[in-house]
Amino acid sequence: MRNTLLLLLFSQVSSSVKHSWKFLFTTSTGISNLPDFMGTVQVDDIVVGYCDSNKGIEAKHPRWNNLFNDNPEILEEYTQECFYKRPNLYKARLEDIMQHLNHSGGVHVLQSIQGCEWNKNTGECVGFYQYGYDGEDFISLDLKKLTWIALKRQAVSITQIWDADKNRIRRNKIYFTEIYPDWLKKYLSYENSSLMRDTVLPSVSLLQKTPSSPVSCHATGFYPDRVLMFWRKDGEEIHEDVDHGEILPNHDGTFQMRVDLNISSVKPEDWSRYDCVFQFSDVKKDVITKLDKAKIRTNRESTAAVIGVVAGLLHLLVCITGLFIWRKKKNNGFRAANTSDSSSSNRQTSDPH
Ligand SMILES: *[C@@H]1O[C@H](CO)[C@@H](O)[C@H](O)[C@H]1NC(C)=O
Ligand SMILES: *[C@@H]1O[C@H](CO)[C@@H](O)[C@H](O)[C@H]1NC(C)=O
Ligand SMILES: *[C@@H]1O[C@H](CO)[C@@H](O)[C@H](O)[C@H]1NC(C)=O
Repeated sequence: MRNTLLLLLFSQVSSSVKHSWKFLFTTSTGISNLPDFMGTVQVDDIVVGYCDSNKGIEAKHPRWNNLFNDNPEILEEYTQECFYKRPNLYKARLEDIMQHLNHSGGVHVLQSIQGCEWNKNTGECVGFYQYGYDGEDFISLDLKKLTWIALKRQAVSITQIWDADKNRIRRNKIYFTEIYPDWLKKYLSYENSSLMRDTVLPSVSLLQKTPSSPVSCHATGFYPDRVLMFWRKDGEEIHEDVDHGEILPNHDGTFQMRVDLNISSVKPEDWSRYDCVFQFSDVKKDVITKLDKAKIRTNRESTAAVIGVVAGLLHLLVCITGLFIWRKKKNNGFRAANTSDSSSSNRQTSDPH
């Protein structure tokens, strides 16, 4: 239990300091039921947007939808990237690599993950950019030295060609020092300003499998995910006999969480002294649920809820991971240039890399 608490505490702290912004792209050839080009945008590791060559841009998150509605120019930027700049670029790059490796036909997949992890306290933006080919690490960009690194032997000659393209490296630098940090900041400041408006309270229920098993206080449908849940006795938070679950994503962009209380040593007449508290970290809107036998839902319902959760998670996993099966390697960090002096005309003309 202590570990769980520490973990919760740690994730609270880290999520309030570090933020990340990622673009993930997949270009494939030879797979008939897959779009040629797919992209996702993740903020703090949550998929907020998706685009592909068949469907167009889809907001995968209520916050993202609002961001686009309120800031049409941001939607325009993403539309440019997803439809006009990136698809042809990655298609050409995949063809180049295939040609280089003498892979003429068959199924081939090129993936890229790029973005930036921003530390609010230091202002440092640690960029990363990596390619995977046919499901394996292939090439990454060293953002300190601005050189390409081959992660497989076959990639060495390609990195030599890419290294010779100084314009592309210069464009990369702009993306990683100016554009990506700027996009992340726009998103986070939007998140900040709309926090009050968009907060969604959960529905909270008490679940119990058998009369002797712990009572689970289950909150679902809340947004955002910076929350605390705990049990109280006589108004004081208790730690003994309490088990905290993790915060899990629902696939509508909201979250769920549970906290269990082992009631085996609680006398029936003491039940009314307990309650379960749900709290947002940034917004004062608590949901308090009294421990009440009459309100506890039984086994059948809770099993259904669990199956729902598992199915939801599987669905999400399939959506998120998709083909991104290769492991992300740690890149060396670099210090972001002071973005306040970046000129926007500079950026209009820069193409992706
Ligand atoms: C590709 O084929 C050409 C000609 O057959 C050969 O010279 C070259 O070494 C091959 N390249 C690779 C990476 O196998
Ligand atoms: C969000 O709001 C907090 C407190 O109001 C502020 O300290 C922080 O800088 C804001 N973050 C952004 C990205 O605007
Ligand atoms: C609940 O507490 C009792 C006694 O303190 C213990 O025997 C039992 O294993 C606990 N149940 C769970 C599920 O932790």
